[in-house]
Amino acid sequence: MMYNEHEPTDIQRVSAFPRGRLITFEGIDGSGKTTQIEKLSARLAESGIPVRVLREPGGTVIGEAIRRILLDKAHTGMCTETELLLFAAARAQLVREVILPDLEAGKWVICDRFFDSTAAYQGFGRQLDPDTIRSLNQLAVGTCRPDLTILLDLPVQAALDRLVGRKNKQDRLDHESVAFMERTRQGYRQLALAEPDRIIVMDAALQETELAEKIYHKIREGLAT
Ligand code: TYD
Repeated sequence: MMYNEHEPTDIQRVSAFPRGRLITFEGIDGSGKTTQIEKLSARLAESGIPVRVLREPGGTVIGEAIRRILLDKAHTGMCTETELLLFAAARAQLVREVILPDLEAGKWVICDRFFDSTAAYQGFGRQLDPDTIRSLNQLAVGTCRPDLTILLDLPVQAALDRLVGRKNKQDRLDHESVAFMERTRQGYRQLALAEPDRIIVMDAALQETELAEKIYHKIREGLAT
């Protein structure tokens, strides 16, 4: 297809409209993202905002298939570069198939993990080259960047204590060392320092309801409609 300079691209269309908002949740495993996402989406929906909740990797048929490959316990031989490319592939699909059209339609999209997970887990956790990760993230998302990111920060030991109760649903990525989790947590904190306007660090050790209240207020403050 010929590129027509008068026809806006998908991305230009999205930035020209009264668009929805993209909110992402980040944090190490066990930081409580799922509970907080449920609470926030329910609260936004109650106030009349159309909300869609997505998770990464996943959220599309192709993305869910990639998720199964990534999490399969039999895939112990997966090299870190393959892992990185699979996460990026699932994200590229999700952005184009779901997130951009939803934002264009005025929905608020809440995503359980997004490109900061790759920067933290593959960059800091697995220690892959940060420049390569940046370019891959860029390729995967184009100009689709989160309006706001909630980082649920929790000491590794506290996260591990919470994960004990979930032992029965362990997958390939649940077998990481404490050192890996520590690098990932510290990586997240560095990312937040570099982008303080976008990434809001919340104390994930707070009591659930109190934390939900604080997150809701940060969102309303940061994303005034
Ligand atoms: P999941 O079961 O969704 O974990 P959680 O409920 O904690 O989000 O599995 C996702 C796993 O994949 C999690 O361990 C984090 C990891 N991950 C990466 O390493 N890189 C990424 O880019 C993404 C999106 C996830």
